[in-house]
Amino acid sequence: MKRISASFLPPIALAYRSKTPMYRQLYDWFRRAIIDGQMRPGQRVPSTRGLAAELKMSRIPVLNAYEQLLAEGYFETFVGAGTCVARSIPDDTLSPQAVKARKGMQEKVGKLGPRRMSRRGAALTHVPAQSWLDNLGAFRVSLPALDHFPIGIWSKLVARHSRRPPRGIMAYSDAMGYPPFRDAIAEYLGAVRGVRCEASQILVTTGSQQALQISAQVLLDPKDRVWMEEPGYPGARQAFMTAGAQLIPVRVDHDGMNVAEIIRRGPDARAVYVTPSHQYPMGMTMSATRRMLLLNWAVRSGAWIIEDDYDSEYRFGSRPIASLQGLDTDGRVIYIGTFSKVMFPALRLGYAVVPKDVVAAFSAARDAADIFSSTLYQAVLTDFIREGHFARHIRRMRMLYMERRRALVNAIQSQMGDMFEVIGAEAGMHLVALLPPGTDDVAVSRKAAEKGISAIPLSTCYLEPPTTGGLILGYGGANAHQIHDGIRKLRMSIQDQIA
Ligand SMILES: Cc1ncc(COP(=O)(O)O)c(C=O)c1O
Repeated sequence: MKRISASFLPPIALAYRSKTPMYRQLYDWFRRAIIDGQMRPGQRVPSTRGLAAELKMSRIPVLNAYEQLLAEGYFETFVGAGTCVARSIPDDTLSPQAVKARKGMQEKVGKLGPRRMSRRGAALTHVPAQSWLDNLGAFRVSLPALDHFPIGIWSKLVARHSRRPPRGIMAYSDAMGYPPFRDAIAEYLGAVRGVRCEASQILVTTGSQQALQISAQVLLDPKDRVWMEEPGYPGARQAFMTAGAQLIPVRVDHDGMNVAEIIRRGPDARAVYVTPSHQYPMGMTMSATRRMLLLNWAVRSGAWIIEDDYDSEYRFGSRPIASLQGLDTDGRVIYIGTFSKVMFPALRLGYAVVPKDVVAAFSAARDAADIFSSTLYQAVLTDFIREGHFARHIRRMRMLYMERRRALVNAIQSQMGDMFEVIGAEAGMHLVALLPPGTDDVAVSRKAAEKGISAIPLSTCYLEPPTTGGLILGYGGANAHQIHDGIRKLRMSIQDQIA
């Protein structure tokens, strides 16, 4: 059995004035720690000399306690490995029944007093189990082609910055982010997304999720009304709920969010959340007229626009569409972006472009949340961008996703043309497949998850009961074989569900 290091020993509490001898207290302490599972079978225990020094006592009581524990089989010794917790404990205290009984006791003790949660906290947990997110199989939304990521270049850059890191990489840093990284982002957004900003307006965040959460905290008070796209991005919904906001759904059509409805409903909203370049999840682009109407409405109502531009790097048929932020002349737009799709999600780097007058508040909110993002990865990504790897990677991925999108659409048409209506396949890394009327998309997704397929039910993106069921299918992380096999399994899942 693998032996576990001794480094994580729970604190040993001893009563120095007690009548119980020291060796007995130590023996009792180790026995209880083993029985309660705080020390695991095979875990190495400190040497008698080391423990005596740590506890500032003579070695004799420690030796006596260890001797007793060895004699009773709680400890065992290995040549060259010292003393460890025994791999099989001698009495019945570790039987499943005994462990369960102890856990039960803990639960009872824990539940004696009131355990009030905030209404916001309770609302956040009203999300049904999402078994389709338990696997990374075909169609996992937002998963890029990780096997095509230039990991060799990336690891060289990581090594470059970690070998002899300057103090700045290891010390506390600015809540807004690493300055050279903010410069690189501002330049990129100006050139590619038509965003008008200075580097001082860039707040580097832990993915765009944190940018949404900080925006909610800084801009919203509890019960403030926020217009949300319907269907829309559940991550944004969760972020605004943590601020206690009231979410009002506004339907999307082929031109994006229905701005006329927002205008008709009046000015009393604090903010609107939109994905104008590539509506999530339906995939349409907000028309130029609607963009102008939305900006005018925001100015008249004194409202904020939270623009989530999460995957605009990938457009296949047409030229990239410039951001809404670039049309804003009144500092109304918080522009949010992410490196989760163009790089990889576990990097957890995103950004918000913040109007100048609210930069200080955003910076303070970030400071209060978790201070700042890892400087090492900001520095590595800065070099990755500056040395041209970023642009090259995006170009390659655009070609690859174009092929994968084609493979998915073809597989759907040939194997499931009778069951699926495909929409939103012109950009990004996912499309929506509408199911025949009356099909329960959550049940289909659950069945598919049992077969290792990850397909998000469209209905989870609605605030109000949806009229149509569907599946959101990501194709970025699935190769041709996985796409073909995945569609076959999806077909079986739908048939299981209908049967
Ligand atoms: C609409 C939308 N916004 C943002 C994100 C990215 O989130 P993050 O940057 O926190 O990984 C996603 C990812 O799925 C998304 O679909």
